[in-house]
Amino acid sequence: MTATSQQPAPGSLTLWGWLCLLAKVGGIVAGLIFKAVRYPFLSRKSKTKRSFHHYIAYEGMIDFQSGLSAVEKHTVLPSTAWQCKSFAHGNNLPYEKVTLHDGTLAFLLNGSSSSTKHALGLNPFTRGSKKAAALAEEMIVAKQKANKVIVYFHGGGYVAAILPQHLHLIYSFEDKPRYKDGVVVYVLAYGLVDEKANHYPTQLRQAISLLDHIINTENIPPSNITLMGNSAGANLLLSVILHLSHPNPDVPPLNMKDDEKFAAAVAISPWCNMDTSAESMTTNANKDVLAASALEYWGGNFLGGRSLEPWNSPLQAPAEWWTDLKVGELLMIYGEDEIMRDDTEVLCKRVQSAHPQTTVYGLPGESHEQMAMTKLLHLPWISDSEKIYTAWMKERFY
Ligand SMILES: *[C@@H]1O[C@H](CO)[C@@H](O)[C@H](O)[C@H]1NC(C)=O
Ligand SMILES: *[C@@H]1O[C@H](CO)[C@@H](O)[C@H](O)[C@H]1NC(C)=O
Repeated sequence: MTATSQQPAPGSLTLWGWLCLLAKVGGIVAGLIFKAVRYPFLSRKSKTKRSFHHYIAYEGMIDFQSGLSAVEKHTVLPSTAWQCKSFAHGNNLPYEKVTLHDGTLAFLLNGSSSSTKHALGLNPFTRGSKKAAALAEEMIVAKQKANKVIVYFHGGGYVAAILPQHLHLIYSFEDKPRYKDGVVVYVLAYGLVDEKANHYPTQLRQAISLLDHIINTENIPPSNITLMGNSAGANLLLSVILHLSHPNPDVPPLNMKDDEKFAAAVAISPWCNMDTSAESMTTNANKDVLAASALEYWGGNFLGGRSLEPWNSPLQAPAEWWTDLKVGELLMIYGEDEIMRDDTEVLCKRVQSAHPQTTVYGLPGESHEQMAMTKLLHLPWISDSEKIYTAWMKERFY
């Protein structure tokens, strides 16, 4: 594979950049305090039916995503690598960092927490590494027994790293990971986009590189692999699926046998179009956790000057590209209150009529990635999307 798959070091901030970042964060917090003070007046005039907590949480999400540049986000949010390691340590989960020859980075996590209590040692400087070594040791054994693989592509507009809530989502939001014997999970730590780095189709190339590794080096057949993604990760997932039968000319094709198919794919709140002209972008603006202006900024950086193509905007793919997909079941879940609703609805209908093994849920009253956002923002309910998704996962992986 070409050297362009290498993940360039993400941009970093200068001292002046740091000062600007602090000022912006201060501005976002001050804005939220102002909104908090204004809430009683809004709710009296019934301009918002949300609880105080719900209102501030959603406003905070919008302000944060719109207020910071890509490089600033990379600076304030922990990396995907850090999140995976910390999730594994916290859950006593065997894991391994996977670095492929072209620089593609992924984390292999076991399907279930270890029941062994690992000795941590007394030295505070080696405590973590001792446990890491023990968990890595266990992963070698778990990998030998692996026969079912979940490959996960995280969301975050291609600019933000994975969230802990996404890792919980992979494990069906159980308190502890506890999938049945032989299940392992790969989390792709794709290159995050900013103004200068990791433009499309870097992430597709990395995803294909990881799948090639799992199928042709680890010898797991596609029929034992389930692909999963949410938001930008579901954009990548759809892009991968299209690439299998209609290869992107800039990305090597995936080497798999003609009659082989992936077991299943799960697309949660897919970002399926880099164009933001759909009507729901404005009609759902006050209901969603996403802002169209943020999508435009992220999408522009992601495209890096390239035009809309099926592999960056799956909605642009001709309807017949969705027939003969090299996947079995396809589960698509989105919220009726998403700003991307109109595009998603069109896409889901199109995919469903071309690929009958598709199940679509468009859920009333739900916003973008509702199940992960409910956890992130500590909202006191369990969304219908979560119930549907976890039931689907439990049928297959427990
Ligand atoms: C790895 O996960 C499997 C379930 O997929 C479980 O049976 C096994 O005990 C786990 N291995 C370790 C070392 O925890
Ligand atoms: C694929 O899954 C089946 C069970 O569904 C299992 O019997 C088989 O061993 C798996 N193949 C590999 C190579 O792990």
